[in-house]
Amino acid sequence: MATDSNKFQAIIAHCKEYGFIFPSSEIYDGLGAVYDYGQWGAELKKNIKDHWWHSMTRMYENIVGIDAAIFMHPTTWKASGHVDNFSDPMIDNKDSKKRYRVDHLIEAKIEALSNEGKQLEADLLQGKMDHLIAEGDFAGLKELIEDEKIVCSVSGTANWTDVRQFNLMFSTEFGATSDEGDNTIYLRPETAQGIFVNFLNVQKTGRMKIPFGIAQIGKAFRNEIVARQFIFRMREFEQMEMQFFIRPGTQKEWYEYWKGERMKWHLDLGISPDKYRFHDHVKLAHYADAACDIEYNFPIGFKEVEGIHSRTDFDLRNHQEYSKKKMQYFDNDVDPATGKPYGNYIPYVIETSIGVDRTVMLVLSEAYEEQDLSTPERKDDRVVLKFPPKLAPIKLAVLPLVKKDGLPEVAQQLMSDCKGAFKCFYEEKDTIGKRYRRMDAIGTPFCVTIDHQSKEDGTVTIRFRDTMQQERVPMSEVKHLVLRSMI
Ligand code: GAP
Repeated sequence: MATDSNKFQAIIAHCKEYGFIFPSSEIYDGLGAVYDYGQWGAELKKNIKDHWWHSMTRMYENIVGIDAAIFMHPTTWKASGHVDNFSDPMIDNKDSKKRYRVDHLIEAKIEALSNEGKQLEADLLQGKMDHLIAEGDFAGLKELIEDEKIVCSVSGTANWTDVRQFNLMFSTEFGATSDEGDNTIYLRPETAQGIFVNFLNVQKTGRMKIPFGIAQIGKAFRNEIVARQFIFRMREFEQMEMQFFIRPGTQKEWYEYWKGERMKWHLDLGISPDKYRFHDHVKLAHYADAACDIEYNFPIGFKEVEGIHSRTDFDLRNHQEYSKKKMQYFDNDVDPATGKPYGNYIPYVIETSIGVDRTVMLVLSEAYEEQDLSTPERKDDRVVLKFPPKLAPIKLAVLPLVKKDGLPEVAQQLMSDCKGAFKCFYEEKDTIGKRYRRMDAIGTPFCVTIDHQSKEDGTVTIRFRDTMQQERVPMSEVKHLVLRSMI
């Protein structure tokens, strides 16, 4: 049985063995912090994205979705501050030449102290690091690393360079020739800027009235220096972001509102509130006047899954300055304080930004269970993924008991009835017990077995993944039963 500390490794192995997630270009030994989603991982990921898109763009009547390009005009990233500010303090070990993010290096020491039961020392070190990072005190951070005798995990030495900033954006050449001037272009490090530059396009064509939101799901790229922990920190990943445009001065209340709404979304997945916590940012990003993370208790501890940021008018104001195009909204609602319309202003923005891949990791962590099913007579166990049915890659497995006597034909009728409504899986090979276990391992909530009685009275046995209980039901009810579970 996996303990909490090795549950993470067990999930990684399970994901590979059962077609959820593979290392990218594995035949060439993989590519650091890049992963491919296999057949069931892709379904799971798509279901998560659909669920988020549905809750953002349908349940809120004032939010619409867009799909902006990954490539954007390079000035976008100058205006957004990413060219100058999107960097992390790094330190190199001179002996191993290995580069570390300073906060990760110190956090590893904090974790080690807390594992040794030295919680007071761990808290003290956390406090010191937070303070130095907030102050941008690089010399102080280096001193802290040296005082704490933190060594490189490869060379084992404390022979460190000074702390420096490294930009995390990937750049490439745009266009075929180099004589058109500088063709450097960036792969977007966040999807948000595609929303900001389209703010007026959407507002005008959609006749949107403040407050309103624009949502987007898409790829983002960051040249993460310490890229480990599976799909938790990747160089190519996906984000689900929503920018909510509001009247200046109302940001505090909207920030609290979105903190509440987003936490509700998480809890609606059926996850216990004690698995979550808010973490306020000590060092605010260059665009924010308030920010927090929603953290989930992964098998590797509480980690950020979503960020909620009060971005002020930083982005729109800068795009206005750099593009020389007005980014203003005319608000004809009457301000009760003056009795006049609010008039023209650059809206403020509250952003909710959640990583798709981290949500996949969250859903997997929550679902993964190793169960000992041994009885005095027989040793037995299973790995089951208890996905909420709406997120499960396959909703229904249709299994004829035997490959003959017309049972496959009856099973195929049920397949035809259901496969247009949700993802079904048909299998006739192996014993029914083995087939059930395979479906448990990929998180299929319902298995239906077609046996000889099915041919006579049109009933089938439905088996519930979590309880493993079986019930006889009319075949005609199966589709509705599955659909009801997905709401
Ligand atoms: N637009 C704001 C923004 O990008 P962020 O906190 O840098 O804010 C938002 O990122 C979310 O994107 C994070 O909460 C996380 O879920 C996800 N994310 C960020 N970097 C990631 C990475 N390297 N790999 C996987 N997910 C990442």
